[in-house]
Amino acid sequence: MLELKDLTFTIAKDGEDVALIDKATLSVPAGHFMAIVGPSGCGKSTLLKLIAGINVESDGNLYWNGRDLSTEGDLEPAEIGYVPQFSIAYDQLTVEESVESVVRLRVKTRGRAEFHELVDRVLEQTGLDALRHRMVKVLSGGQRRRLSLAMELVTDPVLLLADEVTSGLDPKSEHEIVKLMHALSRKHNRVVINVTHSLANLDLYDSVLVLHEGRVVYHGQPRALDHYFSVEEVEEIYPRLAKRTPEDWQTSWEKHRPDYYIALRSAADAAAKERAEESGEGESGSGGADATRAAATPGFLKQFSALFFRRCRIFARDGGQLFLQIAILLGFPALVILFALDGVGETRSLSDRLPQTLAEYQQEKEIVEHNLNLGGLVSGLVMFQVILLTLMASNNAAREIASERHIFEKEKFGGVRPLTYLASKLAFLGMLVVIQSVWMAVFVQNICHIPTVQFLPQLALLLLVNAAMTAVCLGISSLAKTADQASLLSIYLVGFQLPLSGAVLALPPIAGWATRPFISAYWSWAGIMNSLESSFRTAVDRVTETWLAPAWVCFAVLLAHVAIGLFLAYVGVKKSRWD
Ligand SMILES: Nc1ncnc2c1ncn2[C@@H]1O[C@H](COP(=O)(O)OP(=O)(O)O)[C@@H](O)[C@H]1O
Ligand SMILES: [Mg+2]
Repeated sequence: MLELKDLTFTIAKDGEDVALIDKATLSVPAGHFMAIVGPSGCGKSTLLKLIAGINVESDGNLYWNGRDLSTEGDLEPAEIGYVPQFSIAYDQLTVEESVESVVRLRVKTRGRAEFHELVDRVLEQTGLDALRHRMVKVLSGGQRRRLSLAMELVTDPVLLLADEVTSGLDPKSEHEIVKLMHALSRKHNRVVINVTHSLANLDLYDSVLVLHEGRVVYHGQPRALDHYFSVEEVEEIYPRLAKRTPEDWQTSWEKHRPDYYIALRSAADAAAKERAEESGEGESGSGGADATRAAATPGFLKQFSALFFRRCRIFARDGGQLFLQIAILLGFPALVILFALDGVGETRSLSDRLPQTLAEYQQEKEIVEHNLNLGGLVSGLVMFQVILLTLMASNNAAREIASERHIFEKEKFGGVRPLTYLASKLAFLGMLVVIQSVWMAVFVQNICHIPTVQFLPQLALLLLVNAAMTAVCLGISSLAKTADQASLLSIYLVGFQLPLSGAVLALPPIAGWATRPFISAYWSWAGIMNSLESSFRTAVDRVTETWLAPAWVCFAVLLAHVAIGLFLAYVGVKKSRWD
């Protein structure tokens, strides 16, 4: 049984407290199917989120089977199924894969047989069996809502909350979905609550709650609605609501509630008795199964591998992304080598003595010019590599979290740990970073022969600049409000790398010191410049006036950038972000 007592949710608006839900009091018996109806914007979703525990009440209490949820702990993630207004499945997966994915993330199954049994049962229950191999992106609206419900049924929740799962559907599909939810409420004494602004199919519900500007103005049997509101057709209820103030409606409902609740309770008792007779003792037994399931959210490794392999699968199926990644991977290094197809060449040494003749002077001048050109070439080639790697990094990570934030938020609510999610992102992006950086470094080195003393530190610095920018962009992605915002910020960040690196034009000293700490590209480039063979190092010194930090400092700063990026990403994923 679910009970709400004077449940209130206020927000601060222009310095004043505004109640979005005002003193909601109601009770919903076990095995009950309830509708929350009301005009758009009256607070239905807000009330549902309060019940789910996504919104935290400002006042009042919420009880589940007599347990005060605010003081004695919330329901376990597995005990609640919450179907939000938006789709929670990935377009690039099939129906079956979507369900399998939530099972892996949310249910500890014992062995493959139990796993498949559960997937099959849920698909059958929701009538999706025949569509199991269909891609989510080609599903109809009604099929999508079925899938959303299926994905919430994997834990056998005792409380199933659905937000507008019927809106935007044709009347037939709407009827089917309501019937499906009705059937689901008849199992395991489950409470099913559906939010809808539609007033169709109300007779399928055990009770209807009418919400008006955040206040409960009716909660009783659907057939008593027209009597209570003195209307001929239920469609007249909304216009009728506008005729009195919400306070007025609420006060008069509080006066009538006891009478209506007597009728509601006796109907519920009769239904419960009927169900118990129909199903024998079988049903009460599965109540116990729910309780053991509820405690069993899979551990780190199971969730991690489910998230990681799902990410890889979605990546492999996203033709556009895949093409872009491959084009960048092969195209960017090819761009770099265009500037030194025959290799960088050798520096030449000046003679020890001063030039005596005009010819000797000319020769010395040519040597100086040759070395200067080489210095510029090496510096430019390395900076070009670095900048292209930062561009790859922003392409890797900018949208990574922001674009699927709503799904992640939902999965977090269902028991996916933020750290596990982040770890799966690190594994996936780490793979991209290693492939991109190693290919860039090895390919360019083989053709251009960048004259560093050792190749490995050069490779490491290129890898680190990619890792640093990927981590920072992941941080941005995790903190940003939308994927577009994250993309834009990341592109700006990359855009500033070249001018502020000091590799092209030296910055005024103060500006240089103020910006340098944030410019990953500088530390990668400077580290590599400092690891050049000495004659090249001298040549580079002649072409750039920018201070070159010692290589170990560059390593340390880049590692710090990685750490900061990951920290930001962690802060972002911990944050609750439903809107
Ligand atoms: N967290 C919030 N902060 C500010 N306003 C909110 C918040 N949540 C909801 N609202 C506002 O409260 C009202 C009720 O919203 P909602 O519950 O989504 O309505 P419904 O689902 O009935 O259409 C709307 O005007 C909405 O803009
Ligand atoms: Mg809503």
